[in-house]
Amino acid sequence: MTQPAKSNSVAFRDIAFQLHSQTNPEAHEARGPIIVASGKGARVTDIDGKEYIDGMAGLWCASLGFANERLAAAASRQYATLGYYHTFFHRTGDGAATLAEKLVEMTGMEGGKAYFATSGSEANETMVKLAWVYHTVRGKPTKRKVIARQRSFHGSTIAAASMCGLEFMHREFGLPLPGFLHTEAPYPYRGMLTGEDEVAYVERLALELEKMILREGPDTIAAFIAEPIFAGGGIIVPPATYFARIQQVLDKYDILCLGDEIVCGFGRTGEWFGRDTVGMKPDMMALAKGLSSSYFPISAVVMKGEIYDAIRTFNQAGGSFGHGFTNSGHPVGVAVALEAIAIYEEMNIVDHVRRMGARLRGRFEAMAAASPIVGDVRGAGLMLGIELVADKETRLPFAPERQAGPSFDRIALANGLIARCMGDTLGFSPPLIVDDRDVDDIADRCEASLRELETELLG
Ligand SMILES: Cc1ncc(COP(=O)(O)O)c(C=O)c1O
Repeated sequence: MTQPAKSNSVAFRDIAFQLHSQTNPEAHEARGPIIVASGKGARVTDIDGKEYIDGMAGLWCASLGFANERLAAAASRQYATLGYYHTFFHRTGDGAATLAEKLVEMTGMEGGKAYFATSGSEANETMVKLAWVYHTVRGKPTKRKVIARQRSFHGSTIAAASMCGLEFMHREFGLPLPGFLHTEAPYPYRGMLTGEDEVAYVERLALELEKMILREGPDTIAAFIAEPIFAGGGIIVPPATYFARIQQVLDKYDILCLGDEIVCGFGRTGEWFGRDTVGMKPDMMALAKGLSSSYFPISAVVMKGEIYDAIRTFNQAGGSFGHGFTNSGHPVGVAVALEAIAIYEEMNIVDHVRRMGARLRGRFEAMAAASPIVGDVRGAGLMLGIELVADKETRLPFAPERQAGPSFDRIALANGLIARCMGDTLGFSPPLIVDDRDVDDIADRCEASLRELETELLG
C-alpha cells in the first residue's frame, strides 16, 4: 500500500517513533526535528542543504570534525580484520593493549591501568565501584557515599545521574539515590560574596565540604567527583587554588578524588587533560568523547596503581573482577581512539587549541565590552562561555520567562551557528580542528546573533 508522502518523511517518522534525549516531547511534536544529513570539518549540513558551523562539536565531542577520513579508514580497516571481540575472560587484542598502555602513559598514572567501557556514564559509574572496592580492601567497607558538586554533569545512568548536580536530571526519576551528595559549586562570578577575595571564597567552599564530610561521618565517604571545568553546568572555571585546597580536605579524610575528564580531556582546555589546567590531582580519570572524537562509543577509566592493587587483592582467592560491558575494549573503538590520539599528537593539539582559544576568547571579550547584556566571558582553551545578564553592573540575571539563552540558540541556528545555552550561559566548544577562518566565522555569527538578541530583549 502506498503511504502518503508525509509519512515517508524523516520528520514524520521521527516524531512518530523516536524519543529524544533532553528534548521536550510536546515541543518536538510541534516543531519536528533538525535533521542533520552530512558534515565536513567543523560544519554540518541539514537535509534541506543549509550549512551550520557547529560551535559545540556536537555534544562537546567531535574534536576532529564531522567527516575525518583517517578515522573512517582506521575503523574500516579494523572492521575488515576483526569487527568484534571482547575483553572478558583474559581476551584482548593488539589495539586494546596498545591503547591501555598509551592512556596510562599519557595520564602519568604510575603503575596504573586503563579499563574500557562505552560511554562517559559507564566510566563514571565504574570509578564509583572501583572506589568502593578500594576502601573495602583497606578495611573501610562503610566508605560508600560520593560527594559531587551542584551544577555538575556526570551522565544519565542511575548513579551517574545521581552524581549530577542539576535538578532536571533528577526530577522525573526520584533521584539522587541515597548516598550521593552535592556540595557547593565553585562559581566565582555568582558565588563570591561582596568583599570576599578568591582565597576567602575557596576557603569557604573547602570548609563547606569539610562540614558535609563531618556531618555525614568521614567513615562513610568514599569519593569526591568533579569535572575540572564544569561543562553542562555553565562552563565554569574554578578559582586557581580551588582544587589544591579541596585536595587537602580529601586527604585529611581518606577520600578518593575522581576526575571526570569526559569533556575536558584530550586538549579541550589547552592542556592534554583539564586536570592540568586547574591543578587537580585525581586518583582515577574518566575519559570519553574526545578519546575517539566520538566516532565510536568508547570510554575509559585510568586508575592509579593502588586502585588496581585493591581489585587484585579482593580477588586473590580466585574470584574474577565482577564488572564489564559487552563492548569494553571493542577493537573498532580502540582502533579509532588510537588514530584520533595519533592525529592530536601530529597536529600538536594543545598548542593549536591555545592559539584558537585565545583568538575566539579575544573576539568574545570585545563583544562583551560592546554589549549591554554580556556579563561574563570565561573558560579555557576551546571551552568558552558567555553569560547573559539583565544588568552588567549588578550582575542581575534575566527573568527566566525572558528566555534569553534559548532565544540566542534559536537566533544563532537561523544564522547558521550551533551554540548551546545552559540557562543564560552560551556555550562554545567547537571541534578542535577549527582554523582562523572557522573561529572568525563562529565569532561573526555569534556577534550578529547577539545584536539580534539585544534588539529582541531591549527593543
Ligand atoms: C562531564 C560529562 N561527564 C559525563 C558525561 C556522560 O557521558 P555519556 O553521555 O557518554 O554517558 C557527559 C556527557 O555530556 C559529560 O559532559
